[in-house]
Amino acid sequence: MDSLPIGPNAIFVLAQMAFWLAFAIWLGWFRPRRPLPAMEIFTLKGDPAQAPFPEDLQLHWLGHSSFRLEWGGRVILLDPVLSDHVSVAPRRVGRPGPGMLEGVDAILLTHAHMDHFNNETLARVNPCQLHLPAKAERFLNGRNRARHQWHTFEMGDSIRIGEVDVTVVRARHGGWRYPWQQGFFACGFILRRDDFTLYYAGDSAWGEHFEAIGRDFQPDLALLPIGGYSPRWFLKSRHINPPEAVEAVRRLQARGVIPCHYGTYRVSLEGMEAPVMWFRREVLSLQTASRRSPDPRN
Ligand SMILES: [Fe+2]
Repeated sequence: MDSLPIGPNAIFVLAQMAFWLAFAIWLGWFRPRRPLPAMEIFTLKGDPAQAPFPEDLQLHWLGHSSFRLEWGGRVILLDPVLSDHVSVAPRRVGRPGPGMLEGVDAILLTHAHMDHFNNETLARVNPCQLHLPAKAERFLNGRNRARHQWHTFEMGDSIRIGEVDVTVVRARHGGWRYPWQQGFFACGFILRRDDFTLYYAGDSAWGEHFEAIGRDFQPDLALLPIGGYSPRWFLKSRHINPPEAVEAVRRLQARGVIPCHYGTYRVSLEGMEAPVMWFRREVLSLQTASRRSPDPRN
């Protein structure tokens, strides 16, 4: 009998190539980018137009967990990541206009994960204040160390940016860049100006801290992650899913919520749009239930 024209080593190599090609297709390397989706604001009880939003606040979602705030004459970036890829995952949506990285007064980083702390993006922002968790500065490259006035903070610290007061609050999430690293923390931020309070959660798994933050700060508006939950057995201890995000809004007693951490980079197994579709369904069912049995206290 004739032998196979290729040996077992070649079959192994071909199988590996097929696997990596399928993985690259799944990550989206060969797909055209979709337009950057619009930022959505929700209330748990009804009309999104009723969500609290001060007139002097301009908020732009830049994709994934990245936001630009223009508030009280200051411009603040939260976890800005606009790069073409995060690790091996390509950006699946367009970038916001280049002006979104200009005129910035301060950058706030919640933790060192690559989808929140990106040296390439930081190098494209004009020189400004950069605040990041203690020890995370070791991941700041030389270019950004020289470019920005960087400062580290600890949990519970306060930072003043113009008329905006920032407080560093808890998150239940690893602060490391790579899983074998120890001694790093992740956090969220409370930002306050006048009588309006904004909560930016960064990344977090479910925890009692949502209730504590609600009790201590009474945020009006919450920016909450909703994606990165699949497979659940692995990511339950790292990211909330949409029902947990809705429950977090209730515990925070926030009147409005803007979901993020979805649709931009494939960082987990769920579909790119699955988190926001699930979140919309959860909010809708809660609104319907609240209309059926209105709370007599409201
Ligand atoms: Fe993270």
